[in-house]
Amino acid sequence: MSWNDRDSTAKNMALSSVFWLVVAISLGIVMALEFIAPDFLAGIPWLVFPRIRQAHVNGLAFGFLSMAMIAGWYYMVPRLTKADIHSQKLGNVVMVLWNVALAVGVTGVVLGYTQAREYAELIWQVDILIMAALLLTGYNMFRTIAARKVEHLYVSLWYIMGSLIWFPIVFAIGNVIWNPPSGALFGLNDAIWGWFYGHNILGLWFTTGAVPVIYYILPKETRRPLYGYTLALIAFWFLAFFYSGVGTHHILQSPVPEWLKTISVICSIGLFIPVLAFVINVFMTMRGSWRALYYSIPLRFVISGAAFYLLVSLQGSTQALRGFNSFIHFTNWTVAHAHLALLGFVGFTMMGLIYYIVPRLCSLDGQCLLYSERLAWIHWWLTTIGFLGFFLVLTAAGLTQAGGYAQGLPTVMILPAVRNLWIGRAVTGSMIIGAQYVFAFNVVMTARGKMNAKETEAIEANAAVEAVEA
Ligand code: HEM
Repeated sequence: MSWNDRDSTAKNMALSSVFWLVVAISLGIVMALEFIAPDFLAGIPWLVFPRIRQAHVNGLAFGFLSMAMIAGWYYMVPRLTKADIHSQKLGNVVMVLWNVALAVGVTGVVLGYTQAREYAELIWQVDILIMAALLLTGYNMFRTIAARKVEHLYVSLWYIMGSLIWFPIVFAIGNVIWNPPSGALFGLNDAIWGWFYGHNILGLWFTTGAVPVIYYILPKETRRPLYGYTLALIAFWFLAFFYSGVGTHHILQSPVPEWLKTISVICSIGLFIPVLAFVINVFMTMRGSWRALYYSIPLRFVISGAAFYLLVSLQGSTQALRGFNSFIHFTNWTVAHAHLALLGFVGFTMMGLIYYIVPRLCSLDGQCLLYSERLAWIHWWLTTIGFLGFFLVLTAAGLTQAGGYAQGLPTVMILPAVRNLWIGRAVTGSMIIGAQYVFAFNVVMTARGKMNAKETEAIEANAAVEAVEA
């Protein structure tokens, strides 16, 4: 496939995303083991917990999730606009740029070069590359949408355009791309900037990037139109309105202005509106089509993602309430919540997306066949069971820690109580990681145009029986 070919950017981005998933998720188990045996790997500076954590988070957020989202947009936008992508070559240049930026950034944090800003740790040189990649992606997408051959803008396009306008601004703010002196800026505490970014990377990038994927795959796989177009637009505007104000709910116990804290709590509760609008839309579109979950792998993954979106949003809004927030702050409750968002909601949705697009882009003769459906189902079961266990043990660890802190116990006395739960995280985490190796194998074999011999035989046998019966 050449760099100018139709869909080459979508394919290359999707494969890069799976590569980063495998690399960055594997670091999760290294950290989980370090929690159980802190001396494990002692003396190897580039494997110490704080460095690996940054590589894990950035590799998954900017490698796996962001590249999968962009792959999906490169697939969906030409189909929704009936126009070819303005420049596939530019799309592929961005794909290389993005991979280089991440390779430099992730290697950098492992070697100890960091900006030390949450979710924005990669060094400033990488920020410039990612910023350029974002702007070029925006240019390519907007030129394509401007040249569309259909009058109507499907709701997924609204979300994609929103992400590409908002996120470069959010990214520039969070990475302090103007390099301010430390301390106050425009009278604002730096932590406020940091958490404006920290939360909006979720709200105005991952959410606005994953929701259009669900709105695309749902009608395709159920063969029913989206229930409410206007409802989806209401959700879009409320999302934009409320999300931009929630960042300060991360620092409710810190010395930042009280009025800003109150706004962040109100906006967090306000997020119920777009979330419920989204869930009603998904539910009503699925009405009468739930059986499709038995045979459509992409649908099974994106519906799981939508269910986790509902859960994480309900949890997020309630844990922004001041009393509850001060109880669970600084505990593993938050880590469970972060994984519910990025692995549960966005991760499952991106896996569904990859299952949807890779066979369509890579199969020989356009047959749209996955290498192995069986492996894909194994992937779903292992990831789902592993993740539910992972979420439960971390939530239990969080509540145990919170109870201890509320009684004024020092951390060292709480640690023995959570050790077994951390062992549980390592076990369930290994299940999730193993499942991703299965996923990567399946995707790579599909990309090479292969089909599992046993499954091919079964399909041929079924076809033969159907032919006889007919
Ligand atoms: C797609 C999959 C995953 C995504 C997107 C993801 C994302 C994240 C994020 C965003 C954080 C930061 C959490 C916070 O700020 O509170 C984090 C931390 C962490 N993750 Fe993952 N993760 C994934 C899978 C895994 C797996 C399978 C494991 C296996 C054990 C794991 C282990 C950890 C650990 C140990 C931490 C550090 C927690 C702490 O600081 O206490 N992650 N991950």
